[in-house]
Amino acid sequence: MLVSQDEPRCTATPSRSECSSQNDHTLIEGILRLVRQQTGVDFAQYRRPTISRRIHNRMLSIGVRSLQDYWARLQADEAESMRLLERLTIKVSRFYRNACTFDVLAEEVLPWLACRRQPLRIWSAGCGCGEEAYTLAMLLEAARLPGKVEASDIDPAALAVAREGVYRREAFDELPAGLAAQLEAAGAQRYRVPAAARERVRFFRHDLGDAPPPAARFYDLICCRNVLIYFEREAQRRAFATLDEALRGDGYLCLGEAEWPLPEYVERYAPCGAKTQVFRRLQGGREGER
Ligand SMILES: C[S@@+](CC[C@H](N)C(=O)[O-])C[C@H]1O[C@@H](n2cnc3c(N)ncnc32)[C@H](O)[C@@H]1O
Repeated sequence: MLVSQDEPRCTATPSRSECSSQNDHTLIEGILRLVRQQTGVDFAQYRRPTISRRIHNRMLSIGVRSLQDYWARLQADEAESMRLLERLTIKVSRFYRNACTFDVLAEEVLPWLACRRQPLRIWSAGCGCGEEAYTLAMLLEAARLPGKVEASDIDPAALAVAREGVYRREAFDELPAGLAAQLEAAGAQRYRVPAAARERVRFFRHDLGDAPPPAARFYDLICCRNVLIYFEREAQRRAFATLDEALRGDGYLCLGEAEWPLPEYVERYAPCGAKTQVFRRLQGGREGER
């Protein structure tokens, strides 16, 4: 078992409340170290308040009362690290989430890109359980555009759900009726993405926090929505550099509603309208497109 035997301890004890918060901080760092050793994922790069809330949330669901006890549980049961990983990564998503974004992609971005180059290559980075990737594939299919969607996430459990391509009815609440009509029934209140769209998507594990891009200067469109928002600034820098390297010189980047290109990139990414977080990468500065 790849675990550290060093139990995290409170080292500074100036007052009881300071000690308690210092102790919690130390224990959370110890827990994140264990998770990194056991899963390979470094959650030290994620925003602490979110991480702390999610750890406590997991403890509550399994009836563990203290961080110290939870740390001991992780030491004893390596599978618990994977379960915590699932809880630490937030996978809220829907088909056609934030409809105006997908309207812009369907009506402007995909047709514009397809006039210049085919087949289209799209990357859904931080794809969760696949809703965004399949939405993109359904749009390609509806417009009869040649193209593939590569979809990645850090969480293997989310990728397993994504590969099934079956979702509860609520996942499709925002999907326009014309696209929803193509879904296949798959049991009570459950629907499967049509085969033609499923065949366009490939799922794989990828860590935006520290892995190089799957390919450089390769993708016409990258959707990385509601992922960077959970990262600390340094991790956002690394992840954004990865996205920038993966995108073609004149490609499009689509971020989440509350996300923007980092200050050092704003000159290179022009927003497409005020209502969405879709940006066109401006040519220049980088050479070597494939
Ligand atoms: C809120 S979901 C976003 C899903 C989809 N992009 C959307 O906006 O509907 C965030 C996803 O980012 C993934 N994620 C978190 N950290 C990641 C990392 N370092 N590398 C890749 N994916 C990550 C999570 O597992 C989760 O599936």
